[in-house]
Amino acid sequence: MNTRIAINPAIRLGAVACFTLGVSCGAGNDRVIDGVTEASPSPARLGGSIAVIPAPMKLEANGQWHAIAPDVVITCDDEYRQIASTIREFIEQRTGKLPVVQRRDAGEPSGRIHITSRGANDLGVEGYALSVRRGHVELRARTVHGAFNGWQTLRQLIEQGELVEGESIQSLRVPECEIVDKPRYAWRGMHLDVSRHFFPVEFIKRYIDLLAYHKFNVFHWHLTDDQGWRIEIRKYPSLTAVGAWRDEFSGRYGGYYTQEEIRDVVQYAAERFVTIVPEIEMPGHALAALASYPAISCKGGPFDVPTTWGVFDDVYCAGNDETFVFIDNVLAEVCALFPGEYIHIGGDECPKSRWKDCEKCQARITKEKLSDESALQSWFMHRIEAMLAARGKRMIGWDEILEGGLAPKASVMSWRGMEGGIAAANEGHDVVMSPTSHCYFDYRQSHLPGERGPIWSPVLNTERVYGFEPMPESLKASRRKHILGAQGNVWTEWLKAPADVEYMAFPRACALSEVAWSYATGRDWGAFRSRLDVHLKRLKAMDVNYRPLD
Ligand code: ACM
Ligand code: ZN
Repeated sequence: MNTRIAINPAIRLGAVACFTLGVSCGAGNDRVIDGVTEASPSPARLGGSIAVIPAPMKLEANGQWHAIAPDVVITCDDEYRQIASTIREFIEQRTGKLPVVQRRDAGEPSGRIHITSRGANDLGVEGYALSVRRGHVELRARTVHGAFNGWQTLRQLIEQGELVEGESIQSLRVPECEIVDKPRYAWRGMHLDVSRHFFPVEFIKRYIDLLAYHKFNVFHWHLTDDQGWRIEIRKYPSLTAVGAWRDEFSGRYGGYYTQEEIRDVVQYAAERFVTIVPEIEMPGHALAALASYPAISCKGGPFDVPTTWGVFDDVYCAGNDETFVFIDNVLAEVCALFPGEYIHIGGDECPKSRWKDCEKCQARITKEKLSDESALQSWFMHRIEAMLAARGKRMIGWDEILEGGLAPKASVMSWRGMEGGIAAANEGHDVVMSPTSHCYFDYRQSHLPGERGPIWSPVLNTERVYGFEPMPESLKASRRKHILGAQGNVWTEWLKAPADVEYMAFPRACALSEVAWSYATGRDWGAFRSRLDVHLKRLKAMDVNYRPLD
């Protein structure tokens, strides 16, 4: 078995390399790709390594790079016309020349770039194969999503050719290579809190672009919290007239997304194969909603939308039937806006002090024969799950939803560690691993003076993120299928502007993309670090305000 490790930067031009992550190259891979004998035009400047992030499952290369002909013809099966158009525009932006696109149903490759489903049966829904020989590119995929993923890889190769190797843009360069790639996990997520600080639609789209570029396929949009309600709900206009705004020293702060904007963002994400999981927080982290509709709290208010961070005692009243009418109506609009199967309902950090003192909540506990307030939270979540199920949706919540008993089909996002996720998986529930130890990208990235992020936070640098293993060793083989994947969270208490978000998210998200996409065998920080050096040049060209590595 060939187990040489991924993407060794020391591989020099002309050497034959077999790079793998997790999958053996198998017999017969230590060969020069057929027919590659042309000398590379400027070998001294061409590195032998290919720096794709996240690393492909299998990658063979021989260190030779070739120009794609200046007059590129793209041929494709009919279903890949959209991807072909995207590639066409990308090439035009760089070379000033608009490639011709021709339909070629399952035909022989004839263009310089050929996209087809032929020979792609084994690649799964998201997989692809990329074969590049003497500047001829063949991209194979079974689905448009797979072809899109392959395009992200091809794009990174072209960018590496121009950014690292410094060649003229006129002659886009691609390396001789054979890539076969599939994701390790089905849920590869990034989250963004738009409640603590609000970010405009243009930035949300840019964030989605950056996620897709790293083959993330879930955007967890944290739309409501104490400090701001950010989604228009037509039935409850006060949520955005009142709950979207707070009075700070410097003036009124806030904002929200109209339903039209949300639909536009959902469509934008879908075109990039990113599913949006909206989060509507309950029963805690709900002060913005209660400031808008105080009658559904235990004490009746009035409340202000808070301007400080933390966990607040006032939460939805679980004893008041009106609370559930309200939530049902909100979820009806949310479910209609977001076509994905999951709705995130929060569930974290819900103090029980108001419920303990509330006659209605105590009456509920008695009537439903519940043991205590934790059981009341569990009862609450069971009701919400039924509301979602009635609309064909699945519920996911933070790991506190385990307390008092999980709702029958709930999925768990494990944030306080891995234990909640392990417990849920052992009970047969699906899990996304997102522990603070590796996935909280609001945490500081070093101990250096002036480092951004709260002073109390542990240091979580890119190397540590890269070392994350979402699959708990202790989990029995039969339960492993319940670990859907991993997610990075970007809480924004201390992040006011898009540039701040980018600084905290990148390059940690690059490392997480590999944790979630690439197979774990052979993972090597040193090799990743070398690829990341190249990759950061790509991010720089996109003007991403990433945190430089130490
Ligand atoms: C969380 O960080 N409270 C989910
Ligand atoms: Zn109450």
